[in-house]
Amino acid sequence: MEAPSTAEDIRDVNTKYHDVAADTYDAKWGIDFGEIGQHQVLLKLRKVLGSQVEDGFERSLEIGSGTGYFSLNLLQAGVIEQATCTDISPGMIETLRGNAERLGLDVETAVAGADALPFEDGSFDLVLGHAVLHHLPDLARAFAEFDRVLRPGGMIVFAGEPSRYGDRLAQIPKRGATAVAPAWRWLMRARPAGALGNGHGGAQGHHEDHKLEQFVDIHAFAPGDLADVARAAGFTDVNVRGEELTANWFGWTNRALEATAEPEDVPWGWRQYAYRGYLAFQKVDEALLEGRLPAAIFYNLLLAARKPGA
Ligand SMILES: C[S@@+](CC[C@H](N)C(=O)[O-])C[C@H]1O[C@@H](n2cnc3c(N)ncnc32)[C@H](O)[C@@H]1O
Repeated sequence: MEAPSTAEDIRDVNTKYHDVAADTYDAKWGIDFGEIGQHQVLLKLRKVLGSQVEDGFERSLEIGSGTGYFSLNLLQAGVIEQATCTDISPGMIETLRGNAERLGLDVETAVAGADALPFEDGSFDLVLGHAVLHHLPDLARAFAEFDRVLRPGGMIVFAGEPSRYGDRLAQIPKRGATAVAPAWRWLMRARPAGALGNGHGGAQGHHEDHKLEQFVDIHAFAPGDLADVARAAGFTDVNVRGEELTANWFGWTNRALEATAEPEDVPWGWRQYAYRGYLAFQKVDEALLEGRLPAAIFYNLLLAARKPGA
């Protein structure tokens, strides 16, 4: 299969890939809608908005909301009052609606691409997203849309965007993990992935999903790239930060090791160690590194900016 070359093709590939991924997305990424999830999302917002988070927002619009990680957690945490969630993938929106229903939350939803938002001018106080900008084929058009649907004085916040240099640095622990994986599996008494012959669950959908994965991420950003795109769209008070360095190295090492084993053979104790270790390293990054080192070397970038006026 050839890499998609037009904006239309990139949107199509993203829709198909995320439609297939929607059912298993929360389990795959450990998405939580309880206290832990709320805490994680609040932490990210505080890093770029500071005490403004405590004031809250009345009407929010999420772009590429997936299964609801950001909006559903922010609603529960009381940071936003009315949430509208959009995504280009109907499958993701369906999963999000199921999650909202289970949590007893009221949300508006729409299937929509970031660069053609079906809302009136000035409808929202906050436009936000997590891990979505790097999928968008026309960032200038998307940011023009964010600006249009925001009221004057409204804010944009995007988090979880891949950092170009941070990603390169993360290749080092990933390669190290691949090299020691056979010894790790021996220690864990785990069989190699695929030993049970069910690598893709046998489902055609998951096979397709696997092939498309390489084409859905189309950008990795330097911090200045994100600031430039926001400023070019007319936003002010632009703030770009980096987060997660040691946490990511630790997390990717473990993910790379686990990916080489049959999932059911990875011991519960190991998973606990990997999860708790990740949270501990996150604290180290936040307390010691994020304020001191350049944003560019961190794994994820966060962006906040304001629409002038009001
Ligand atoms: C990596 S997932 C993140 C989902 C969710 N925000 C989260 O953090 O769990 C990216 C999401 O962006 C959506 N997406 C991809 N291209 C898009 C586009 N052009 N417009 C709107 N959403 C898009 C995908 O369907 C997917 O749900």
